[in-house]
Order: sequence, then C-alpha cells, then structure tokens
Amino acid sequence: MTNHIRPETHKHMEKKHVCTLCKSNQIQVFLSLGPTPPANNFLEERHIDRGEKFYPLDVYFCLDCSHVGVLPRIDSEELFSDYVYLTSRSETMLSHLESLSDTIFDRYLDDEEEALVVDIGSNDGSLLQFFQEKGVNVVGVEPAENIAREARKNGVPTINDFFDEETAKLILEEYGLPDVVMATNVFAHIPELDEVTKGIELLLDEGGAFIFENAYLPDLIENKEFDTIYHEHLYYHSLTPLKSYFQRFGLGIADAERVPIHGGSIRVFVEKDPQISDRAKELIEFEEERGFTELQKYRDFAEEVKGIRQDLNSLIEELKRNNSRIAGYGAAAKGNTLLNYCRIGPEELDYVVDNTPLKQGKFTPGMHIPVKTPRHFRNDYPDYVLLLAWNFAREIIAKEKEFLEQGGKFIIPVPEVKVVGKEFLEKT
Ligand code: TYD
Repeated sequence: MTNHIRPETHKHMEKKHVCTLCKSNQIQVFLSLGPTPPANNFLEERHIDRGEKFYPLDVYFCLDCSHVGVLPRIDSEELFSDYVYLTSRSETMLSHLESLSDTIFDRYLDDEEEALVVDIGSNDGSLLQFFQEKGVNVVGVEPAENIAREARKNGVPTINDFFDEETAKLILEEYGLPDVVMATNVFAHIPELDEVTKGIELLLDEGGAFIFENAYLPDLIENKEFDTIYHEHLYYHSLTPLKSYFQRFGLGIADAERVPIHGGSIRVFVEKDPQISDRAKELIEFEEERGFTELQKYRDFAEEVKGIRQDLNSLIEELKRNNSRIAGYGAAAKGNTLLNYCRIGPEELDYVVDNTPLKQGKFTPGMHIPVKTPRHFRNDYPDYVLLLAWNFAREIIAKEKEFLEQGGKFIIPVPEVKVVGKEFLEKT
C-alpha cells in the first residue's frame, strides 16, 4: 500500500469524473462516508489545532463495466506525505507473503539464479526477502522515501520512485526482463492506473506474468467491510471489469483465486495471450449470478452500512452510560474510516493501541484519539476494546489473552456489531 501517483498527472485526472477502468461517465454514487480526512494522516500533537482537510468519501458503481471506486481521487501529496504503513509489522501478513512467494516460485521460476522478480510498491521489502531466501534476484519499486530506505537497510535493492513506463524502462536497462512482476495491495491505489499497466506490459514477455492481490469487492460487500473504503483505496476490484480492462493493453487474465487476507482478497494472474483458467471463469460467473454487476446490490449494501453505524453508536452510548472505559485496537486506516463515519472520538475511546512506532504518540486523523503502545494498553486495561484492525482478530486476540482472561471484552464491528469475551479463546 503505497504512493504510486505522480502529482502532476493526478491533477489532470480531477477534471473529469469518469470510471477509471473503462472511462465511461455513467457512474453512480451509492454510498457517502465523508467528510473524512486521509486515513493514514496521523497527526503530531502540535499539529492538532492547525486544522485538517476533510474530503467527501463517496463510492461509485460504473453502469457500463461494473467497476467500483472512490471519489474524489485526492492529491497524492496529501495522502502519502508521511507514510506510516510497514508490512513487517504483522505476523499474519508475513506468513501470507511467504506462502505467496512459495506459490509464485513453484509456478513461474525454474532457474532461480537467472530469475528476476520485480515488486511494485515493495514497501519494506518483506515479500522480496522471501524470494531472496530462495536465491532469486529481486528489485523493488517503492516511492515512499522513508520506507524505501528501510527496504535497502534490509538488503533489498529498491528503486525509490513511482512505477510507470519510465521506471519499467529503467528496470529493463539495469536488471533485464523480469520473470514475474508482483503488486500486493497496490493495484487498487493508483490514480493513473493506465500508466502502471503500460509499464507492466513493457516488462512482460511471453513467459512472464504479473500477479497482483487486492481486496475482493464481493468479499467487501458480503462481509460489510465498509471501513476498508478510504481515499487511498481508489478501487474495489472484481474480475468482470478487469477482464476487459487488461484486454485493452494486450494482456489477459490467465487465472484468479480468492485468498483469505485483509478480509477477503483476490489474487489475479495476468499474462500475454493467456487461456483463462476454469476457476477464473467461475469467479466471473459468480460475480454475475450474485448481482455484483447490478447497482441494486450496492444500494442494499449502503443501507446495511447505516445499520452497523446505528448499532455501534447505540452500544457505545450504553457502555458509556455505565461508565465503561473503552479503547480501540489497531490504528488501522480502516479504523479511521469507521471512527470518522460513526463520529467516535476521544470522549468514547480513551486511546487506540498500535504496535507501529511511526503511529505511536500521534493522534488519529479527524477524531484525534491518541495512539498508544501495546505496553500502555497492558498497564491500563480498559473494560472494552473496539477492534478496529478486525482483519487481524485472531492474531490480536491470541496476543491479548490476558486482557480477556481478566474480564476484558472485544467489540468486533463488522460484519455485524458483536461483543466477545474469554469464551472466544475456547472457540479459537
Ligand atoms: P492494517 O489492517 O494492516 O491496515 P490498514 O491500515 O490497511 O487498515 O492495519 C492494522 C493495524 O493494526 C496496523 O497499524 C498495525 C496494528 N496491529 C497491532 O497494533 N497489533 C497487532 O498485533 C497487529 C496484527 C496489528
């Protein structure tokens, strides 16, 4: 999840509100979650009174190609000036990336000494390190300077830039033609997606593949993960619109599978002139049969989201009436959508605990709740914890067994608001 926007090209985009994938102007907003500040813009204490920019957070459906995306597409500098997301902070994510590297290695890389893997939005190099362990040559592309530095410190060659045709040419000159180009949680974050796809096309020869992973729209809708919607996540991909999108660039979907990370994701294998696999075809059929190509599906979803807000606000109101102390767990970007949309602030949550040093000591964007360390949490247990990083529920709840054993309870906000206590430990 990183910044792939060249500011100058981005400004150009704002002039027209069209579907990013097919360029149709037949787009319909079905959900408004704003006004919301950029979800990763955590604030220093001294900047709290300076005022933040709030933007609408609207979600559209394209009546022509069924693509779903966010408006407005806000300025990149605003979104990513001080990037705070580090892949290596989560065990769940690391083991997922390791297994992804195993799959790709077995499927595409015969001669590891000759092989090259490029990772777009390589973050701190976590995924590429797993390929390096297998003896594969790697290069990452990471535009956030602080994070690219971290990757190089980890021994991962990293180009500190945006990815587009220029970067692709540089890679060809300096490293040669890659066997595999990867992008995990990146392909949904790029305003000028066409520029990136053109760059990818340059890097693929007949045997090469582009493999990307992103949250899968049907999972988002069915699991009511509305909080994963924020300005950085520009697109919510499903296969139907992507199929025709890639065809425009001389590429095609070879295969696709659902993977259980980040609340339900899709892994897509893109090649030149591929035969589409049966399981990818089945997913496209599934999308149509379940209504994901119809506006009504999204209108129903918007109603359900309002219901979650109502339930959560009523529960918190009741707990506060009983003088319960509540904290948040995981200062995730998705947490900030939820907190802003439900207007939950420091009067409701004493603090939000997070293990990312870059977030600790700061305040959540919009609602201004202080972010504290896990140590602080363990020394100051509240009565309830609102699990903002619910995608890591297992890992977090296992880690905080003691809190549950001492009578603490977790509030899990999606797919429906529920409260769990220590009985949850017996079930997992
Ligand atoms: P994450 O879901 O990775 O990202 P997003 O920002 O895309 O919504 O965010 C999870 C946050 O939770 C991240 O800031 C790290 C934090 N976290 C902890 O504090 N402790 C943990 O044990 C885990 C797994 C995550």
